[in-house]
Amino acid sequence: MSAPLVEMKNITKKFPGVIANSGANLVVQAGEIHALLGENGAGKSTLMSVLTGLYKPDEGDIYLSGEKIAFRSPKDAIKAGIGMVHQHFRLVAPFTVTENVALGLTGGFRINLDKLAKEISALSHDYGLQLDPEARIWQLSVGEQQRVEIIKLLYRKTKILILDEPTAVLTPQEAHDLYATLRRMAQEGCAVIFITHKLQEVMDAADTITILRGGCTIATMSKKDTDTKQLVQLMVGREIEHKSGVIGGEIKGNTILQIDSVHALNDKGLPALKDVSLSIAAGEIFGIAAVAGNGQRELAEVITGLRPYHSGSISVDGNPLKPNDPKASIDAGVSYVPDDRLGTGLVPNLDALDNLFLKDYRNPRWGRFLLKQGAFREHAAQLVKEFSVSMAALSNPVKMMSGGNLQKLLLAREISAAPRVLIAVYPVRGLDIGATESVHKLLMEQRAAGKAILLISEDLEELFLMADRIAVMYEGDIMGIIPKHEATVAELGFMMAGAKRREVGA
Ligand SMILES: Nc1ncnc2c1ncn2[C@@H]1O[C@H](COP(=O)(O)OP(=O)(O)OP(=O)(O)O)[C@@H](O)[C@H]1O
Ligand SMILES: [Mg+2]
Repeated sequence: MSAPLVEMKNITKKFPGVIANSGANLVVQAGEIHALLGENGAGKSTLMSVLTGLYKPDEGDIYLSGEKIAFRSPKDAIKAGIGMVHQHFRLVAPFTVTENVALGLTGGFRINLDKLAKEISALSHDYGLQLDPEARIWQLSVGEQQRVEIIKLLYRKTKILILDEPTAVLTPQEAHDLYATLRRMAQEGCAVIFITHKLQEVMDAADTITILRGGCTIATMSKKDTDTKQLVQLMVGREIEHKSGVIGGEIKGNTILQIDSVHALNDKGLPALKDVSLSIAAGEIFGIAAVAGNGQRELAEVITGLRPYHSGSISVDGNPLKPNDPKASIDAGVSYVPDDRLGTGLVPNLDALDNLFLKDYRNPRWGRFLLKQGAFREHAAQLVKEFSVSMAALSNPVKMMSGGNLQKLLLAREISAAPRVLIAVYPVRGLDIGATESVHKLLMEQRAAGKAILLISEDLEELFLMADRIAVMYEGDIMGIIPKHEATVAELGFMMAGAKRREVGA
């Protein structure tokens, strides 16, 4: 048998205070789609950064088609045919698709953009990646931007394609299309490695699965020899109880959040919210189902004071909320877990302590004139423990934390602020099964504590599990508000596509 396309042997990678990979192994054959699984912080992204030459391993060797290689930089890895689509895309927003593909190509002024655009069209046609080469990146949806990243790699004749949680930002349909493209690439002899927390996708799309736990490789197996139950056991190292009917009985109280006929614009100055009205009671989880870009982000932003609205009204506990004033929203008890945890949610270069402190520094509890640093540090350490955030030290910049732990830190800050209204946007995106369970449990506890919760998600399964009522948004409009027990996936799907409207229970 010929040597595997990729072989990583005994890879160890240490960061100050953390061993991210500890003797990890990975073998990937040409022609296969290989899923890399593991809990948050298991070392998946680190192992892939070693493969792409971003990190130099402390120990271990990498072989490509049986030949030992040592990358001095990512450039070497690109030359060797390795390419990665990072979870946070690296595209230049004002540039066109073609210009972005051209970036980094050698050839300087001699690059013929017209010819390149034609080649991009051909590639996008061949691989089913619908894309307009002349479009500018900022005009594209997240799914389309991901296609640009993939086209970039295809154009560079990438043989080993790595995707870090590629479907975390996609709608179910886009995810389906992406996997069709990946299959096509595998059939042409590429090796595709993808990281995900969605086990159903693994069972649908992967040929082979490698599981990491605590930086070590636990198992590599063929998809047909396993099932999701075993995968969970291997990842977590213990049995996880099956998601139960988390919802308790009806505990609805008085209306806390009231929104009446709100109109607002998006960043491009186009109408994003068109006459939106809804109300959320104490002890209620109100779900919003929508495909990205249909106004749900703007809805969260007008409530949190981050975006102005030009008519209508919003009140919390009967008190009108001052528009476009984040401090007024915080003071009224609105907490916010946004979808971009490292943009709006947390400050990447600040440490965990300062990030926890960001919204609380005015609190007299921490001193009126001089900051009681010790007291806050103790409080922060307590929060980190309570929300089981795992990190090397409170004083490390949070950008070093794994995705799941970032999310837990953000929730710790927002929930500990004792909100009246908690807005959570895709709160379990990128989280492993254990972390997903604990976040859902936290939300349920907030519900039981009589908070009004606005849960925005693309994941219908999550909404069915968690929400009391579900509203569907389409192009800035509420297509209908349905009590969960009356809703079906099919009906919600139709409404999300704008094909159906239902006037009930608003
Ligand atoms: N640049 C870094 N500096 C310090 N520690 C790091 C760095 N990158 C990762 N780590 C730590 O190494 C461990 C593994 O992180 P990694 O990002 O590889 O996990 P992961 O499996 O990708 O997790 P997730 O599913 O949450 O993305 C974590 O404890 C993380 O905090
Ligand atoms: Mg990761």
